[in-house]
Amino acid sequence: MSRDLFLALDLDDKAQALELVHKVSEFITGIKIGPRMGFKYGADIVSELAKIKPVFIDNKYFDIPNTMLASVRSSFNMGASFCTVHAQSGPEALKKLADLEAELNKTRAFKVLVVTVLTSFNKETMPVNCIKASITEQVQALAHEAYGCGLRSFVCSALEVEALKNNFPGCYFVTPGIRFPEESAGDQKRVVGPKQAFNLGASAIVVGRPIYEASDPVEAAKKYYEALGL
Ligand code: C5P
Repeated sequence: MSRDLFLALDLDDKAQALELVHKVSEFITGIKIGPRMGFKYGADIVSELAKIKPVFIDNKYFDIPNTMLASVRSSFNMGASFCTVHAQSGPEALKKLADLEAELNKTRAFKVLVVTVLTSFNKETMPVNCIKASITEQVQALAHEAYGCGLRSFVCSALEVEALKNNFPGCYFVTPGIRFPEESAGDQKRVVGPKQAFNLGASAIVVGRPIYEASDPVEAAKKYYEALGL
């Protein structure tokens, strides 16, 4: 059973980030970095982290196909094992990305993760061009398009994963917006507990603030890791 826990390393300081990763490494299976760390420290932080755990670059590319392909290839070349792209980039880009993913996998394992609808969105905060359909309908439609283009890994809320799993069996589902009930949701709107996320069909959970802002990050990571039931 493949179950992952990605630590979202949304921090500013490299030394602090590395110290945290070393402390919790036993209780995570991967590390997610976004522009906050990536722009500041560049390829070096990716290769450094990749020596500890597989790295997931979360820059959520959304651009013309040529730029998206170059961005994904560059993420792979830096040493990442995962990177995110927006499903809304459309079928032309998505098909080319599926071909690129297949090509890169000849060298080493690499997943292009397709972001459906951000977990910080709810009905009230959706952008104007997206308010006509429900979030569930949009997630389904975007996943359907990306699946048709050949992509098999998705980022969605755990609230949508059950339906997606039924429609797209055998895919890899990454779910952010994970919280124990007693924890603050922050800006996340569609939150689910870690065990529930896996019960609903998640392949991976992404957890940031509940671990790196905890008074005891090792204890917090351990609690989330135990939810993987490995
Ligand atoms: O701190 P928290 O656990 O809310 O962090 C969640 C992480 O997952 C953040 O880095 C956020 O950018 C990312 N993410 C998300 N929702 C998505 C895709 C990625 O929260 N749909």
